Amino acid sequence: MANESATDRRAGAAPVLVAVAWPYASGSRHLGHLAGAYLPADVYARHQRLVGNRVLMVSGSDVHGTPITVRADAEGVTPADIVDRYHAEFVADWGRLGISWDRYTSTGTENHAEVTQDVFMRLLDNGHIDRRTSDQYFDAEADRFLPDRYIEGTCPHCDYSEARGDQCEDCGRTLDPEELVDPRSKITGSTPEVRSTEHFYLRLSDFTEQLGEWLDSREGWRRHVLNFSKGWVDEGLQDRAITRDLDWGIELPVDDLGAGKRIYVWFEAVIGYLSAAKEWARDIGSPEAWRDWWEDDDARSVYFIGKDNIPFHTIIWPAMLMGYGGLNLPTDVPANQYVTFKGGKASASRGVGLTISEGLDLFEADALRYALAASLPEQSDTELSVGEIGRRVNEELVATWGNLVNRVLSMVHKTCEGSVPTADGRTDGDLAVLDAVDASLAIVTEQVERVELRAALRTGMDAAAAVNAYLNATEPWKLAKTDVGRAQVVLGTALAAVAGVRVALSPWLPFSTATLNDVLGTVDSWERVEPTPGAPVPQPAPLFAKVDLEELLDAQASGE
Ligand code: MF3
Ligand code: ZN
Repeated sequence: MANESATDRRAGAAPVLVAVAWPYASGSRHLGHLAGAYLPADVYARHQRLVGNRVLMVSGSDVHGTPITVRADAEGVTPADIVDRYHAEFVADWGRLGISWDRYTSTGTENHAEVTQDVFMRLLDNGHIDRRTSDQYFDAEADRFLPDRYIEGTCPHCDYSEARGDQCEDCGRTLDPEELVDPRSKITGSTPEVRSTEHFYLRLSDFTEQLGEWLDSREGWRRHVLNFSKGWVDEGLQDRAITRDLDWGIELPVDDLGAGKRIYVWFEAVIGYLSAAKEWARDIGSPEAWRDWWEDDDARSVYFIGKDNIPFHTIIWPAMLMGYGGLNLPTDVPANQYVTFKGGKASASRGVGLTISEGLDLFEADALRYALAASLPEQSDTELSVGEIGRRVNEELVATWGNLVNRVLSMVHKTCEGSVPTADGRTDGDLAVLDAVDASLAIVTEQVERVELRAALRTGMDAAAAVNAYLNATEPWKLAKTDVGRAQVVLGTALAAVAGVRVALSPWLPFSTATLNDVLGTVDSWERVEPTPGAPVPQPAPLFAKVDLEELLDAQASGE
């Protein structure tokens, strides 16, 4: 899905890397993941392209590590089977959702392995990686060392009894397996014994001061992200093992450890942001082009992730970049909190709700995008249900925006002889509504640049409401009977205002934006463009279908 903005070199166009969390190809992704990372990233990227910046939006499927092997073991298939299945599902989801990747790849490519090994070697040569002997859990029944996800136990921080060896899902802290209280093997359920083995370690503690200063100098970051990250540094950074006892993963570029060890998935997955940019550049036949996003001082890099990924993006990846040298650190990491789902089927599996594909089977893509974006968990967790999505679609998207477009286009069709009226004869009152729309465009830009996407969507919807208020005040349907000339001026103004609101909402609503291309032209810049007088305006079809709430809730209640 290459787009032109990534390659053009307009003056004043800043490179913006939109870096999006790499979904594990270990199972379907849910609406919570969509709201957490992919949707906000896409909205941000679309807006940034329209204001004229050179966006490179990258991600890919995270195909290594124990999430994949645990799933494969459970199903009795190979890790490759699992990865192929879910990678294909994700790619299909992105197409249906209109996620506008410049590159969506996977960590299973040759290129990614090469870039990972280059980073590993550079950090090793620079003294930031070393080799250590450690005690590690060994499952004697299964006769193998246990990677961290194969161990469960009680979290030492919050006492959650189902904590995994790599992270406690309850309090969000990353863990080392030895920290777990009452550990047990996921393979056999037995209590693992401790044996000595060798691994490579990232010397994270080397970066304590540098990371602390860097975090202190961050401006405009979300408070919860900054507090969490600084808290981590203040607690004291631990050096971290970056190899694992697995046969599924990227091979080490050195053979010191012997067979059966691979690079740890979290060490290599974050490198994907860089390897995907290189892959994109090579693919467009300009292999050095990635440098604009990674080396230019005026480049921005914004990382869209869920809160469980925060330390990897605000501490570990920045440390790796510092150790590597010469590459840009994250400009912002606007991590989202969680969306929790409740009600009906949505709560069936641990409150995670519908998969993305299921959501798309129930709702049009723009409708789903709207409802999720309207409740993005930017500052705190939010709750959603299928009924709430349907309600937002009907009461907000359809009532405020869909009906406005429909109303204005039908009236123009009827009262203006089926074509766009001239812009002549507008009064101060008419011009005021256009000024309001223009002001909204400027405000949306400020809000998107601060990654306040929920507020930005609100601004766009308020602009739509202002156009509705303008129509209610001017009543062109009455004027059509008494003063057709004036009615045409009002409707021309309303149509121009709708054209502007359409731009303001376009990052959220790409599909319905495009259905208006024939009448209003393609949206290709962040400004209100006057519709061309005389251009044909046919009788419109509804922009969005109204959701049948009763049917939807019945289906949910019956657990269908
Ligand atoms: N695969 C991880 C998850 O789904 C996210 C990895 S983000 C990356 O939680 F940057 F490391 F790739
Ligand atoms: Zn915990």
